[in-house]
Amino acid sequence: MRDFDETTITEAVLASVHGAPDARVRQVSEALVRHLHAFIREVEPTEAEWEWGIRFLTETGRLCSDTRQEFILLSDTLGVSMLVDSINHRLPGGATETTVFGPFYVTPPHYPIGANIKGHLNGWPLFVSGTVRSTEGRPLEGATIDVWHADREGFYDLQNLDKHPELAGRGRFYADAKGCFHLWSIRPSPYPIPHDGSVGKMLKAQARHPFRPEHIHFLIEAPGHRRLVTHLFAAGDEYLDSDVVFGVKESLVREYVRHSGGTAPDGQAMQGEWYSLHHDFSIAADLSPSS
Ligand code: BEZ
Ligand code: FE
Repeated sequence: MRDFDETTITEAVLASVHGAPDARVRQVSEALVRHLHAFIREVEPTEAEWEWGIRFLTETGRLCSDTRQEFILLSDTLGVSMLVDSINHRLPGGATETTVFGPFYVTPPHYPIGANIKGHLNGWPLFVSGTVRSTEGRPLEGATIDVWHADREGFYDLQNLDKHPELAGRGRFYADAKGCFHLWSIRPSPYPIPHDGSVGKMLKAQARHPFRPEHIHFLIEAPGHRRLVTHLFAAGDEYLDSDVVFGVKESLVREYVRHSGGTAPDGQAMQGEWYSLHHDFSIAADLSPSS
């Protein structure tokens, strides 16, 4: 174990992790060493560049707290979160597709079907309705539907807790006997992910914008079924083809239908501009051995 140079160092490090008793630890360690060394061989960083890289990662860690996770943002903006999502959700045909979870989820307050979750948020009224069924078409009565979205300025309630300490734009609903649910809120808007830290510096250096297209998040769970984490994106949004976290899937792009006055599907008389959004969610059975 001496005199390593660029032709022998990789094999030496691989040999040093080969004795890991846990097969998965061994596999992950070996792959990490092989890919990290291949990256360095390809890039051939100067020592100044290497130090810059260490400073970048140090800054990324320094920004992490209970309310901010810069490493997840880094994973999101490098497409790693979506890659992990795709690998872990090779779903049967007909199941609603998944996308990134994002950092703005907290367990939401429970509301009865039909409630308005807008809280202190202002914006165009939005009527959201949907069904939750198995991939065989069976209504999943009692499925929990957690919904959360940004305000019309592009901020989540969690980003404004100093001004408005109460949650808004999020709620939990339970599907009825027919698997149906509906609720009111306001239309969100496209928004930039937090870009005042190391990830923002990276995006700038790569000449990328920090925006996500307008969307609403859904987390749907039903016993015996796979957990569904997804969004519904607004058709026509200018960022659909350049989502900074690569989360858009064609099947999740839906029309936020514009209305003027008239009567809403729940019978409410409406005045002025409002929108409606409907989606039928289809959840795959959970076939994992532990379920
Ligand atoms: C979100 O949609 O809430 C989100 C996802 C990834 C990174 C930042 C925000
Ligand atoms: Fe979001």
